[in-house]
Amino acid sequence: MSAPTTDETTLFRQSWTLYDSISEMNYMFHREIYAHITALLSQRHAGGPYSLLDLGCGNTRFIAPCLKTATPSRYAGVDLSEAALKEAREYLSGLENVALHHQDMLQAVQAADASFEVIFSGFAVHHLDAAGKQQLFHACAAKLAPGGQFILVDVVREEGQTREQYLKGYLNFMRTQWTAVRPDHLEEACAHVAAYDFPETLTDLKRMAAEAALTNVRVVDCFAQHHVLVFSA
Ligand SMILES: C[S@@+](CC[C@H](N)C(=O)[O-])C[C@H]1O[C@@H](n2cnc3c(N)ncnc32)[C@H](O)[C@@H]1O
Repeated sequence: MSAPTTDETTLFRQSWTLYDSISEMNYMFHREIYAHITALLSQRHAGGPYSLLDLGCGNTRFIAPCLKTATPSRYAGVDLSEAALKEAREYLSGLENVALHHQDMLQAVQAADASFEVIFSGFAVHHLDAAGKQQLFHACAAKLAPGGQFILVDVVREEGQTREQYLKGYLNFMRTQWTAVRPDHLEEACAHVAAYDFPETLTDLKRMAAEAALTNVRVVDCFAQHHVLVFSA
């Protein structure tokens, strides 16, 4: 896979450490969510060798233990943040057949030269606009092996809620619940969310997936806005 051709802004290029501390404090339910991911990948592993493409893998701090429990035959992680990928190399040490790519996730799926049994993305797809998400569903559907799954962890808007209403609620959740984050860091995180978060409703995600022939959708669990979804053909 090739290096990124554009220098798109991402929430995490400057602020990786801030996100890391927020996830460590479990404000986005990483512990509960990644317990589900371990279970889903273990099921997959029990059915035979599987390969895994991780879109917006970050530093892999939470997926790495899942991979150690249900080790894929091949793992490819993709992210735009070099700082995060540098840390990922540490978290993934000891695992074989690992590749990390500094690349845009859509370009990475489109350029992948082999199919994957599982494509996973954690809290990254909401950075794409609606057209980008639709393209991503198409690209993922094209790169899933027969019987493959697209496991999506992401924030989701309530039905009928506008982005503005969603942001008002989410920023209020951050300001009232993320009490251990330093006030200046909290405001930095709020500014990033307000600028870069474009979550869809579940209905819209299902429609996009169906357009890409991923007609089976399972809501595995949700913790407030934070959802675990599985899409398959
Ligand atoms: C909130 S972090 C999630 C990290 C990890 N997957 C998790 O579940 O905690 C989102 C990650 O997506 C990456 N990202 C955002 N847009 C991206 C894009 N278009 N292509 C690749 N990575 C992207 C960011 O750099 C960041 O590392």
